[in-house]
Amino acid sequence: MSDVLQVEDLRVRYHTLAGPVRAVEGVTFSLKKGERLGLVGESGSGKSTTVLALLRMLKPPARIEAGRVLLDGEDLLQLSEEEMRQARFAKISLIPQGAMNSLNPVMRIKAQLLDTLQYHRQQNGHATRGEMLDHIHYLLESVGLNPAVADMYPHELSGGMKQRVCIAMGISLQPRVILADEPTSALDVVVQRQVMETLGKVQEAIDASLILVGHDMGLMAQFVNTIGVMYAGKLVEVGPVDDMFEEPLHPYTQMLIASLPSLEGKGVFKGIPGITPSLLNPPPGCAFHPRCPKVMDQCRAIVPTLQEVRPGRWVSCLLY
Ligand SMILES: Nc1ncnc2c1ncn2[C@@H]1O[C@H](COP(=O)(O)OP(=O)(O)OP(=O)(O)O)[C@@H](O)[C@H]1O
Ligand SMILES: [Mg+2]
Repeated sequence: MSDVLQVEDLRVRYHTLAGPVRAVEGVTFSLKKGERLGLVGESGSGKSTTVLALLRMLKPPARIEAGRVLLDGEDLLQLSEEEMRQARFAKISLIPQGAMNSLNPVMRIKAQLLDTLQYHRQQNGHATRGEMLDHIHYLLESVGLNPAVADMYPHELSGGMKQRVCIAMGISLQPRVILADEPTSALDVVVQRQVMETLGKVQEAIDASLILVGHDMGLMAQFVNTIGVMYAGKLVEVGPVDDMFEEPLHPYTQMLIASLPSLEGKGVFKGIPGITPSLLNPPPGCAFHPRCPKVMDQCRAIVPTLQEVRPGRWVSCLLY
């Protein structure tokens, strides 16, 4: 199966007064049609920056320094601003972090969805306003909302309902790739699960590929096919979700999985000792070496690269 999305050696820096923050340092991965990739890693590891870079939605002081983002073979980083605007929603869409706060409080839901459809009039296949309104009702129904929601304002909706509206917006033009940045983190666990199920259903219905960003390895495990673990701006391990849980290879992934509360442990969260490295001044060698229980002398000097150490299992660690 050919890849829908190929990201090659993506590098992003925030040029701050204190110096460049290396938020994304050479990230490479690919996504097949219909595949669900979960991006995990602690706060500040570069997950949102990666996702926003794919859409070219980063603002200064962020700058994409290098890399390619091939969507069906076309490099999004080479498109003009106008071409990129056309590609957003239609080819690649975002359900942003804290999405429900991204709705405009003074516009009815209908008007916000119409805006997106009208902007992409050529791509959406619905010529008249009436057709677009029908499509909006269909979209709301497909994310489990009553079409009457179209006439409401965001403040009239619960958090879960707003999040569903954002999903409806994200799929409204049937993109090839959906990027969802912690789409449910502000919701309670029951609603979280329902919203994730909805996201999964609509993603399958339009046969899109999905990148899901999150902290919650447990939720991820049930939802994605592939997991990518980020640490200090790099992907340190990528592999099929079941294999990864069964036998995590990178010491950081091992600690992430070991830190999940188990039933026997009565839900005690162990946490990972040490602090996240500064991306202004990352440690030499492997960025994880100061916290790594398996650290070797060479880890302090040699920067590991992501290697396929077994079929489908990619890891960036000098142990392998
Ligand atoms: N506007 C900015 N200026 C400077 N540095 C920034 C800016 N935005 C993000 N960063 C830095 O870039 C790095 C990556 O941030 P990013 O938001 O991508 O992390 P994340 O993995 O999404 O974290 P979280 O899980 O908290 O959402 C962090 O070190 C962060 O401090
Ligand atoms: Mg983030």
